[in-house]
Order: sequence, then structure tokens, then C-alpha cells
Amino acid sequence: PLLLSAPMLLPEFAPAAGGILALALAAALGALVAVLAMRWSARRELAARVQALQRQLAAHHAEVRPLREPVSLPDPLEGLRAQLDEALRVSGEQRRLAEAERERLHRILEHLSDGIVIIDAEGKVRLLNRAAQELLGTGRSRAIGRPYPEVLRDYELDELIRAAAAGVTSPSSRFVELGRPRRTVQALASSLPGPSGPMVTLILRDITELRRTEAIRRDFIANVSHDLRTPLAGLQALVETLLDGALDDPAVARDFLNRIATEVDHLTRLVTQLLELSRAEAGQLPLHRVPTDLSALIQQALARFEPRARAKELELETNLPAELPVVSCDPERIGQVLSNLLDNAIKFTPPGGRITVSAEATATEVRVAVSDTGPGIPSDDLDRIFERFYKGDRSRSASGSGLGLAIVKHLVQLHGGTVWAASPPRSGATIGFSLPVDFTSASQ
Ligand SMILES: Nc1ncnc2c1ncn2[C@@H]1O[C@H](COP(=O)(O)OP(=O)(O)O)[C@@H](O)[C@H]1O
Ligand SMILES: [Mg+2]
Repeated sequence: PLLLSAPMLLPEFAPAAGGILALALAAALGALVAVLAMRWSARRELAARVQALQRQLAAHHAEVRPLREPVSLPDPLEGLRAQLDEALRVSGEQRRLAEAERERLHRILEHLSDGIVIIDAEGKVRLLNRAAQELLGTGRSRAIGRPYPEVLRDYELDELIRAAAAGVTSPSSRFVELGRPRRTVQALASSLPGPSGPMVTLILRDITELRRTEAIRRDFIANVSHDLRTPLAGLQALVETLLDGALDDPAVARDFLNRIATEVDHLTRLVTQLLELSRAEAGQLPLHRVPTDLSALIQQALARFEPRARAKELELETNLPAELPVVSCDPERIGQVLSNLLDNAIKFTPPGGRITVSAEATATEVRVAVSDTGPGIPSDDLDRIFERFYKGDRSRSASGSGLGLAIVKHLVQLHGGTVWAASPPRSGATIGFSLPVDFTSASQ
């Protein structure tokens, strides 16, 4: 708009001057004004463009991205802008890389199973990953920036952190009980240099599971030793009695030999189970899969247990559909699964009870379940009975090593199936397994 105003001055001067000189003067004056106006306007425009550039730079700092609409500048500045653009591109790239790296570190920390707490030189919590939040029962927003004793609230952890902060060089560790339900945690504190003094890193490792498996192992050794010693002591007594003269009475001798055979059977079963489980766990149990009629397999298993059920006055029954799809499985192994389930059902169900083997097919799998009318399984035990060596409190004294269901689980999983257990109040126990239907063999 200012550019236009210079020529517009001329008509105002022209009538007043009347002469060439006046005209020339007016023209020169006009030109001067025009030039001044142009320079002023150019400066304003330049200022506006530089401001636009500055705005883009500010935005660029706020969120890393290239300058979207390049601002055009007069010549000498254009080169500068290009250089600036390049510098920004490089720094943006570096910042993106640094951010990606930070994000990666953050994700690693978050997914670490160990809890990590970082405490700064002022004793304030600087970092607390998810595992630490769970163990300490706190949230990030309630913890970050707060003095650590308010967050950790544990006397032993406090001592540990003080020792590390005081520069006890080797990382010191302690076992503490944290959270609800109580977890056994190994806490490790070490000091590391920070920007404003030494910071303390606290690592919290949940070893509850480890302790539990240690306890299970100890129990197992006690159980197995007991399970081995009892029949061995029985055998020894029987053999000694035979040697002491019972051998001379054929009727007594036969009875004793029968009892010896039973004990030996018992021992063989236990040792076989131990071997079986260790082979299954080591993945050394080859499966010989063939298209199998599960109904027939179930009937065979029931026939094996018929004498034992009858002796204990238990009723064995089936609830099978007219036809089950063919499954591809190792019949010997699945027969063993059925045996282990039936063995438990017979062992735990008091006389007069009933044991039912049922099966049903879905589009993808066959589900088999063994139900009984026994005492059932306490709900606390339900998800543990498939652990090796696990025996419920009530069955501690019953014979068995606690390996049967662990073997069942392994064998079924080897077939690509799953196991489950249910025990509604006063309805006995149901233990089941599924096997995937093999489409290729089913269509044969
Ligand atoms: N049918 C059942 N009724 C009640 N409890 C059962 C039944 N089956 C399994 N259990 C529980 O599961 C535990 C583990 O079973 P298992 O692995 O076969 O070991 P074991 O038979 O040697 O005790 C048993 O000790 C018992 O507490
Ligand atoms: Mg068993």
C-alpha cells in the first residue's frame, strides 16, 4: 500500500509547481519517498518472514519435524535459511534417535520382571518401574518426586539404601517381605554417580516362586524317601519272616510272596513315574500318533480299573456320545492319562461312590473328563494339583507321590491339548483334558 502512495503524490504537486524544475523535483522527491517506502516495506516484510521462520523454529523445538512451508527470504539470507534447515534436519534426526532410544529403555525397564527404583542425591524417588510399583503397592504419580521412605515404607530397605548412599561400594542385598499378599523379595542396592551427587539404584527381585519350588523340592525329597522307605521296610520284614521259617508253610509263603509282589509293584510304579516325568519335562518322550477311537480307549481303561473299583464298591460309568471324532494321538500315552485320572478318582472316592468318564466333541477338539463323588478338591488347591510333587493337605497321608497329574498335564500338552480341574462345593472332583481333532485323519 505504501508503494502506491508515492506516485499518487505527483498529481498534488504538478498543478502547484507548473515548471519542469518543479516537475523534476517532484519526480525526484517522489522517487526518494518511493524508495524509502519500499525499503521500509521490505524491512517490514523481511521482519515478518523472519518472525514466521522463528515461529516455525519454535514449533520445531516443541515437536521435532522438518520446516513444512519453506519461508522464502532475500538472497543472502536464503543460503542461511538453507543451512539452518539442514542443521535442523540433522538435529531433528538426532533427537528422534535419542527419543527412540529413551523410549526403548523405558519399555525395557517397564517389562523387566525385577522392580527398579532410582533415588536421587536428595533422597527423592526419580524412577519406579511397573514391577516396583506392583511390589510396593504404589503408583508412579504417588511416588515420583517423593522422599523414598514414604514410598518404600520398610525399615530394612531403608537401611539398605542408607548403606548404599553412604558409599558402601559392593552392592548389598537383603531378603524382605513386601506387599499384600506377602511376597519374598531379594533387595539389592547400589550407588551410582548422578548429576547432583550419588544416586541409589534399588533392585527388587520377587523370589516367592523360587522359594516355593525350593519348598516343593524339599517336600518331594521327604515324600519320595518316605514313599520308597515304607515299601522297602515292608519288603524287608516279609523276606526276613520267610527266611525265619515261613517258607516251610506253603500257604503262608504264597501269601507273603503275593504281598511282596504288591510292594514291588508299588515301588516300580513310583520309579517309573519319576522317570516318565523327567523324560517328559526334558522333552524326550516321543509320541507315536495314530488315528485313535477315544471311546475304545476309554472302555479299555475302565476295564483295567474294574476290579479295583469293585473291591472298593465304586460304580464306574461312562457318558459318551454315540460317535466321537477320530483324534490323532499316542494311544499308550493317552491310556496312561486316563489311568492316572481313574487311579485318583478311585483312590479319593469313599466306598459307595460313583466315577463317571464323559466325553464331548466340539468342532476343534474332544474333551474328556473324569468325575467322582468324593470329597472334591479345595479351591486353593485347584490350580496347583498339576504341579509336580504337589499333594493336597488331605491326601498327604494317602499313597502317591503327587506326580500323577503332573504327568497327565505333560502328556496332554505334548498332544497340543489342555487340562483343567473343577470341584464345585459338595460335588466331588472333575479333572478333564482336551485333545485337538486331527482333520486329516478324521476325514480318512
Ligand atoms: N479325584 C480327586 N479327588 C480329590 N482330590 C484329588 C483328585 N485327584 C487329584 N486330587 C488332588 O490332587 C493331588 C495331586 O494328584 P496326583 O498328581 O495324582 O498325586 P497323587 O495321586 O500321588 O497324590 C492329590 O494329592 C489330591 O490332593
Ligand atoms: Mg495320582
